[in-house]
Amino acid sequence: MISQTLREARKYEEMMETRITPEERPAFHLSTRVGWMNDPNGFSFYQGEYHLFYQYHPYDPYWGPMHWGHAVSSDLLHWRYLPVIMAPDMPYDKDGVFSGSAVTRPDGTQLLMYTGVLKEPLPDGRFTEIQTQCIALGDGKDYEKYEGNPVLTERDLPQGFSKNDFRDPKIWMEEDGTYACVVGNCTQDRDGQILLFRSPDGFHWHFVSVLVKNHDRFGKMWECPDFFPMDGKYVLLTSPQDMFPQGFEYHNGNGTLCLVGSFDREAGKFTEEHDQAVDYGIDFYAPQTILAPDGRRIMIGWMQNWDTSSQHPRERKWYGQMTLPREISLREDGRLMQRPIRELDALRCNEVRYEKVRFTDTLQLEGIRGRKIDMELSVRPGSAEKPYRKFAVRFAQEGVFHTAVSFRPYESILKIDRKFSGSRRGIIHQRRCLINHQDGAISLRIILDRFSVEVFVNGGEQVLTATIDTVQSAEGISFFVDGEAELDVVKYDIR
Ligand code: FRU
Repeated sequence: MISQTLREARKYEEMMETRITPEERPAFHLSTRVGWMNDPNGFSFYQGEYHLFYQYHPYDPYWGPMHWGHAVSSDLLHWRYLPVIMAPDMPYDKDGVFSGSAVTRPDGTQLLMYTGVLKEPLPDGRFTEIQTQCIALGDGKDYEKYEGNPVLTERDLPQGFSKNDFRDPKIWMEEDGTYACVVGNCTQDRDGQILLFRSPDGFHWHFVSVLVKNHDRFGKMWECPDFFPMDGKYVLLTSPQDMFPQGFEYHNGNGTLCLVGSFDREAGKFTEEHDQAVDYGIDFYAPQTILAPDGRRIMIGWMQNWDTSSQHPRERKWYGQMTLPREISLREDGRLMQRPIRELDALRCNEVRYEKVRFTDTLQLEGIRGRKIDMELSVRPGSAEKPYRKFAVRFAQEGVFHTAVSFRPYESILKIDRKFSGSRRGIIHQRRCLINHQDGAISLRIILDRFSVEVFVNGGEQVLTATIDTVQSAEGISFFVDGEAELDVVKYDIR
């Protein structure tokens, strides 16, 4: 039985999506079916397909009472929408069905674990939010909320742990068939922490430990944790709110933190060895990962950021898209490496290649243009004695429009700039980061879709992601150097 609220949401999205043409959407990134999208939820491989759910407010292009939208794909690039699966329609989640995750049970059903939100009036007339963890069971199309919900509440928390910031369970099944999950939380003074819970059956849960504590280092409340073994280590991803920048890391206010370390399973303790930002651009938050059937760890994130996400006009037909899925791994030194999923290679066509092009000043190359492209660049100084001072590539270029990535070897700083990318607002448009290079030699892979750019630096050592709004006819690409540089370029259109 589906509720009236869910039925209405299904009717609404079906009707409104017809007003959005395929050309008005990203070509190979998932966007919201209608209205608003934030975090990826329940990212899973289930019954032979990838499923991606998402935080969803169908009724307008702004955040509102959260539902779970749903899309499926066989290659993580072409998505098919399915009807919204959950609405805020129960006494324990009537103010929001917040983020969560998915696991397949031995009987073949899919179990979703999510956060239910309930507003509680305070004596002074204001409201506080109570957040609990809940379960829904389904078959990849329809899901039923568990009658025993909520399965984790403030009663399960040690004293002094916030019941108002207690959300975003990431569940997995252990080798012995039991279940575990990590949940974002904070102390009364909003210092973030990640909690570990266990369950014999996915329905009855108990608190095990504080897996990691922030100790006031990375922002305040920690949202959307993910925790998994990879390349001999354990990785904790979380999205802290309200971060101070540290040098060239964590410039996003709300951004994503990657902690690499070891895990003592018995004690439920994670020991950190290394920390870094996950993305160095503007629009990246709340990623989730899955272990694909072929063993790859694939991560997908919300390709927006909270601080700029309420500046768009109300007439927008949709707002919110996901990043390209990225294969992630750890390098010897613990660095998180990211590369676009290899499924993208199958969509590359119309190769245009240039090698060892020496130039000074500006350069345009026949055939190097386009707006749905995958382009690899390798840049080095024109001569060993004379390093260049600045290199820039401009794309989505036409008339007053362009988006730029520039690099200054003397400072080792790479910058992304989307000031001239269709925005009429004075929101943040630039971000800079420190990158590695050998005497000015760097490599960039730039993936451009209708409304976004993702720049993979030096084989995925760093990634800079940004959304853009530039008119679609802006297909120009040009290069600039202060000094002399030598360039290899290969560009593919994405089919
Ligand atoms: C992160 C987040 C989550 C929450 C969801 C609500 O972007 O704030 O913590 O579950 O969004 O939409």
